[in-house]
Amino acid sequence: MKKRHNTRRPRGSASSSRTKRKKLTDKLYLVAIAAAVVVGVVGWLQWFDDDHDQHGDVGSALTVPAFTAEAEAGQALFEENCVTCHGQNATGSDQGPPLVHRIYEPNHHGDLSFRLAARQGVRAHHWKFGNMPPVEGVSDEDVIKITRYVRELQKANGIF
Ligand code: HEC
Repeated sequence: MKKRHNTRRPRGSASSSRTKRKKLTDKLYLVAIAAAVVVGVVGWLQWFDDDHDQHGDVGSALTVPAFTAEAEAGQALFEENCVTCHGQNATGSDQGPPLVHRIYEPNHHGDLSFRLAARQGVRAHHWKFGNMPPVEGVSDEDVIKITRYVRELQKANGIF
């Protein structure tokens, strides 16, 4: 009698393993819910980023066109005065936004806004890099050339 009893699974243990299984299922549900929340939040952040900052960003897939003479002069001036913040080929850096970007297309930021930016600086409004200080030592003629360079890059990359 005693032996047979021992070979059987005691009732208590069977039900406790059922409880364990239930607890495990609960845990899996929690993990699934947590995962869904994470995916949702990440997706939302990406959408947010996309809509407000990154949209139209050409980044590393940039096309560099054959520049006109004016744009080539502008490139040299850009690399002297703007590249630390606006990055190689105006694709942005950790200190400033890309200018080869949809928000800087001619209808949104006309050529005058480039001259004003260099002369007066820019109060941060589109990005989170902080203010752009006025750039010393560049003339309006210099900025016109720089603008030409940026426009040719924008054009080659389908910004306008
Ligand atoms: C010290 C870093 C820095 C330098 C150097 C710099 N910029 Fe900027 N620039 C910025 C930042 C940051 C912004 C974005 C401000 C914002 O909208 O949040 C900006 C914005 C701009 C804008 C947009 C203006 C607007 O009306 O929104 C233009 C155009 C521009 N820069 C042109 C230039 C040119 C041309 C040069 C070189 C002559 C230059 N920048 C040098 C940091 C810099």
